[in-house]
Amino acid sequence: MAISPPENKLWWKEPMSGIEITWVGIAFLWGLVMFGTMVGWHFVGKQNLSNETYRTTPDAFADKVEAMVERFQVREEGDTGVPVVHPTPGSDVYMLGRLWEWWPVLELEKDQTYRLHLSSTDWQHGFSLQPQNINIQVHPGYDFVLTITPDKAGEYAVVCNEFCGIGHHTMVGKIHVVDKK
Ligand code: CUA
Repeated sequence: MAISPPENKLWWKEPMSGIEITWVGIAFLWGLVMFGTMVGWHFVGKQNLSNETYRTTPDAFADKVEAMVERFQVREEGDTGVPVVHPTPGSDVYMLGRLWEWWPVLELEKDQTYRLHLSSTDWQHGFSLQPQNINIQVHPGYDFVLTITPDKAGEYAVVCNEFCGIGHHTMVGKIHVVDKK
């Protein structure tokens, strides 16, 4: 009985049966396989992008985003007049998550490579790029950098997929990929 102390106080020294050893071995090996897949998906999975992470502050990050908007804004979009920016191909581009929007709208060129910086100025948000199904957790104080080369023109939606309060379901953004050729 589990509720009474074991009669033999050295119960852990009792020999294991062969079948038990086999199962412990199988479980251990399976654990290694699962661990291996975590590493493996890093290279073969499309969802698990290799990103770089740097320390930042909400203010420092917001300054960089605003500087990019000031320099590269080409128009406004939607009822709320979200700025649309078209940065120089090959440059560093920024997208900011905050209650409750992904800001600003980016317009990128097809087959050009960008360093996409993501951060939050308040709390944790999720960057989910659809229909690509790329998912990144975004935290304040950290600058997540993805090196991306969009290979298909079109309109991509950014959806927040970490619950972040009453306006969570409205927290969306957009990336346009345009073909300049
Ligand atoms: Cu941001 Cu949910």
